[in-house]
Amino acid sequence: MSDLRIVPSSAPVGAIVENIDLSTPLDDATFAQIEAAYAAHAVLVFRDQALTPEQMIAFTQRFGDIERYTRNHYAHPDHPEMLLISNIVEGDRSIGLADAGATWHSDMSYVKVPPRGSVLYAREIPMQDGQPLGDTLFASTGAAYDDLSQATKDLLDGRRTTHSYEGKHARRAALGKSNRKPLSAKEREALPPTDHPVIRTHAQTGRKCIYVIDGECVGISGLADTEAEPLLSDLADRCTRPEYTYSHHWQVNDLLMWDNCLVQHLAIQDYALPQRRLMWRTTIKGTTPA
Ligand code: SIN
Repeated sequence: MSDLRIVPSSAPVGAIVENIDLSTPLDDATFAQIEAAYAAHAVLVFRDQALTPEQMIAFTQRFGDIERYTRNHYAHPDHPEMLLISNIVEGDRSIGLADAGATWHSDMSYVKVPPRGSVLYAREIPMQDGQPLGDTLFASTGAAYDDLSQATKDLLDGRRTTHSYEGKHARRAALGKSNRKPLSAKEREALPPTDHPVIRTHAQTGRKCIYVIDGECVGISGLADTEAEPLLSDLADRCTRPEYTYSHHWQVNDLLMWDNCLVQHLAIQDYALPQRRLMWRTTIKGTTPA
């Protein structure tokens, strides 16, 4: 057994994992401790990690196969399973996805089988007056579910709502937070709107969570739009209440992983070039939301 230490944050999600080096393969007992902490805290932070892309990919693969990002424009040039998130421009080209996470969301909720979790590794972090910018916020969708009234839980049981990639980016564009190229006909065919349970049950722990993204979900099965719309808006607002939220202040070489059922997240875009931000992201394949 390693002398790994889990230090929970004061929020309902988030913990720092200390005394661990992720550059070397983890023994089964240590990995089991990390899996348990991941299930309990939903967001794990590993500070001061010195990782190559291969080592980050190997760590991600301990949790399952890697799920590639929907669009491949910003894949790492040598590791297509890794996405680059960045505001850096080289020549006339952004080297990474600049608008990732600009509104509250759960990664790739618009696909039939969204990723179980995501792993983000900080390579460059923007700074101002010695303080990091570009925090990422994580909010507990499990705590939000727990606090619903029993009548609302009963009303939502078994109902579904629709998520879509194009809906998500149309909304972000309207907020001035996305200027992505429209989908090609082939991409559109591969990314139809998809519906998921409004209340999702976590595949590993059985915990119930709200799975509704602010401004992106359309309709609730069996309810009139006049009832569904305000309900969706209320559910989304509940998910991101400050009391359910952990804010991560990044340091270079932080590796952070989150669970896409138990949390939603938001990347704060409070920096601009010449302040540079570069992150590597991998995602872990999930199971059909139930
Ligand atoms: C994301 O939504 O995956 C990006 C989060 C971040 O860049 O902080």
